[in-house]
Amino acid sequence: MSALYIIMVGLPARGKSILTLRISEVLEAEGVRVRVFNNGHLRRARLGPASSLPDFYHPENEDGRVQRERLALINAREARAWLGAGGQVAILDATNGSASRRALLASLLTDAPILYVECVNDDPDLIAAGVQRKALLPEFSHLSREEAVAGFMERIGYYERIYSSPRGEGCYVRVDTLHNTVLEEKMPCRIPYYLRLRDILTSGWVRELFLVRHGQSVFNVQGRIGGDSPLTALGRAQARALAREFGGRDIPYVFTSRRLRSQQTAAPLLAENPGAVLVRLDELDEIDAGSCDSMAYEEIRRDLPREYNARARDKYHYRYPRGEGYSSMRERVERGFLKALFLSGGQPGIVLIGHQAVNRMILSLFLYRRTEDVPYIYIPQDQYFRIVATCRQKSMELIPFRHIPDEGEAAAFEAAPVPDDPGRGILRNRTEP
Ligand code: F6P
Repeated sequence: MSALYIIMVGLPARGKSILTLRISEVLEAEGVRVRVFNNGHLRRARLGPASSLPDFYHPENEDGRVQRERLALINAREARAWLGAGGQVAILDATNGSASRRALLASLLTDAPILYVECVNDDPDLIAAGVQRKALLPEFSHLSREEAVAGFMERIGYYERIYSSPRGEGCYVRVDTLHNTVLEEKMPCRIPYYLRLRDILTSGWVRELFLVRHGQSVFNVQGRIGGDSPLTALGRAQARALAREFGGRDIPYVFTSRRLRSQQTAAPLLAENPGAVLVRLDELDEIDAGSCDSMAYEEIRRDLPREYNARARDKYHYRYPRGEGYSSMRERVERGFLKALFLSGGQPGIVLIGHQAVNRMILSLFLYRRTEDVPYIYIPQDQYFRIVATCRQKSMELIPFRHIPDEGEAAAFEAAPVPDDPGRGILRNRTEP
């Protein structure tokens, strides 16, 4: 029976705990005995809210340093005792960012090999959003949202001052936690489970995602592309049907684009799920039709026949003048999708309200389609996709809404108010007063 210590390393909000969860879920499902030893949980339980203040992390705060070191040692000793009692993989989930902290752990954990998993991700928007998410934790409930965010940023600054990579300290793998890629690895010793772990580190991880297209918009009825038109009466009814569909479910996150039609579709769902966090991502905006934006397909055919024919010949590679095409939007849509997965922290039941071309690109990550077929994938407005893609399960279903009011009934609905634009901060906690 092989035993292993995994020591997670990374600055706060870099995706360590999400990755820890993934590793433990997959290995446990395969019969491996895994346990996570999380310093943050221990700190909150033992020291309470005083340890949430930034000063506690100041490198010159000797008392804070001693207390944090004590917690790290408690966890390390428990991990060792647990492996000694028949455990197989002990994961030490904490920043573990200084060489001295890691040396201390290594001096104690001598009975099994150690693998350092360094988590990196320097996207400033993601870090900002990750911090906003942390500010929702109960440990900050005694502070205002702004105080919690500012305090957490200060804490990150203190960690940065003492941070060093564990590169060169034995067995080491550096992971880009947004793109699920291995950036560097060095294995001077044999690490049990490594092949399996590597697979987990580099796999996409969708526990449950509902992919929805916005309801019918005014431009949809007119056959016009792009623009920023509102929903029609039928579109509003579809938005309400969506809210009813998920009524009573715990929806932790709703992701939309910056376009009005996607936000109006989300509005009744958010009203139904006051605990859901709304995140608007530019990366999920519909294909940019450049100088054809707001034109009807029919007008393009009549007035710009060369463009129309070029697109008809190779829709996937075609690019609108001064705009995008499917192939050129691929990278940004994928980035938006990965951001959504990262920000939702691996939670199941997230909803993403996108657009026709955007949703085609997202589906193409899961469907085995030839690229030339991707721009023709069917994306209805009264059905949604339920996607699960983990190491254990892969499934995709197209599910019709249970109830769609007819046009007459639809006309009675006003558009639900769209929440205020949060500006550059891309997270908004709807539970906030
Ligand atoms: O027609 C609605 C729409 O979302 C447009 O805004 C967009 O240009 C189009 O669909 C994308 O679909 P297609 O690539 O089939 O034109």
